[in-house]
Amino acid sequence: MAKEKIKLLVIDDNKKVAWMLREGLNDDQYEIIDALDGKTGIQMMIEEQPRVIILDIKMPGMDGMEVLERIRSINRRVEIIMLSGYGETKQIVRAMKLGASDFISKPFDVEEVEVVIRSVLEKSELKNEVRHLRSELEAKSKYEDFVGDSPQMLEVKSMIGQVADSELTVLIRGESGTGKEVVARTLHGLSSRREGPFVKVNCAALPKELLEAELFGYEKGAFTGAFKKKPGRFELASHGTIFLDEIGEMSPDLQAKILQVLEQREFVRVGGIETIQVDVRILCATHRDLEEALTQGRIRADLFYRLNEITLFLAPLRERKEDIPLLVEYMLRRYCRQYNREYRPFSRRNIELLHEYHWPGNVRELENLVKQIVVRGDESIIARTIPRQVSSQPVSAEENSPYPELTNAPHGVPLKQATQQAVERTEKALIKSVLNRTNWNRKKAAELLKISYRSLLYKIKEYQIR
Ligand SMILES: Nc1ncnc2c1ncn2[C@@H]1O[C@H](COP(=O)(O)OP(=O)(O)OP(=O)(O)O)[C@@H](O)[C@H]1O
Ligand SMILES: [Mg+2]
Repeated sequence: MAKEKIKLLVIDDNKKVAWMLREGLNDDQYEIIDALDGKTGIQMMIEEQPRVIILDIKMPGMDGMEVLERIRSINRRVEIIMLSGYGETKQIVRAMKLGASDFISKPFDVEEVEVVIRSVLEKSELKNEVRHLRSELEAKSKYEDFVGDSPQMLEVKSMIGQVADSELTVLIRGESGTGKEVVARTLHGLSSRREGPFVKVNCAALPKELLEAELFGYEKGAFTGAFKKKPGRFELASHGTIFLDEIGEMSPDLQAKILQVLEQREFVRVGGIETIQVDVRILCATHRDLEEALTQGRIRADLFYRLNEITLFLAPLRERKEDIPLLVEYMLRRYCRQYNREYRPFSRRNIELLHEYHWPGNVRELENLVKQIVVRGDESIIARTIPRQVSSQPVSAEENSPYPELTNAPHGVPLKQATQQAVERTEKALIKSVLNRTNWNRKKAAELLKISYRSLLYKIKEYQIR
């Protein structure tokens, strides 16, 4: 199999340098591209992603040192070899401190350049290998906070392993409480950016203008109240990961700006003119039906397809109930440690009860329940709060009450939860009866219920109506 060519970018105002290398280096092994000034060079580095850059120190306009600094602020991996002229020793020392990989003094011959390129690449491969080994080792412990061994979870874990240490943008989908943020943190923790910041932004929490200022920062005087300039979350996430939660809620013009960052890793602050480049990995999440948002024009098609390249889908807990025992054990241990309680596993009967419930709030709901039990030291909360109609326990008199939670109220059921359960019960009963009435003609049933066909299908699945 042919080895991949090494892409080499030459940034030098003197055309001859690139010409010489093209002549002298084997073109089966090297692909050489070149730029005659720093600005073009940086742009080419972003678009072409070369493995190695040969960078002249002395150039009109932006000099090599500045180019080096800018490149390092957006790309830490590319190997940069400086070309120095006579009497530029001082710059060489500074360049090495700024992250240059090596240097070559002019005049040089092509063989010398090739030796330096080879040695730089060898070193970098060694570094990569060490990093890879280290991340495999750490992977084991990192997955400890991401529990589950259902086929769905194993699949997600294997995908995480494949994409974690890459620069790929990953979209994480799943209902609320399924663990999207846990996945995002795991991806960051397993990437070579783990020492850098993990910055989370909830795109649904802020109105459009505020979100824009929050993400991209602003210049002094950009709007009333902007007394001094402020960097945005993208800048704060430099050399780390930014996690855009609820990306489906973003306004179209912000979506366009995000797309620009995704594609070029650059943006302009609110009220600014300078283009700012960032070295940041982007992860996104949504619990929304993005396909529906696309047909309704709420999400830009180009952004949708860009985000959809790598999607991790987290199944709802009711579809992977085999994860419940492991999750419960993990959470019990965690909260017992946190609240200084002695660890005692749940009874078999209680685990069974947990299996019978359909967990609309997913893992978060389970976690809240376990926490409540640990804090109050009372396992019987399970039997009392898990709605009975989905359990296979014999029907008690209490069950005939329209609000069994209220009958249980002395033991304490939060109002919100009780309301939600009552709503679900009513919905389920109504849908069932309309479906029976229409002989399971779902279209007709949806019309009668005055909801969309899609949401009817969703509810049938969610409530497991058969
Ligand atoms: N596989 C898992 N292992 C351990 N804990 C988990 C797992 N999945 C979820 N959790 C826990 O459940 C809670 C909810 O998870 P998380 O916040 O990641 O959900 P989410 O999908 O981001 O929800 P939302 O859409 O509401 O933001 C968290 O406290 C998290 O620690
Ligand atoms: Mg979340």
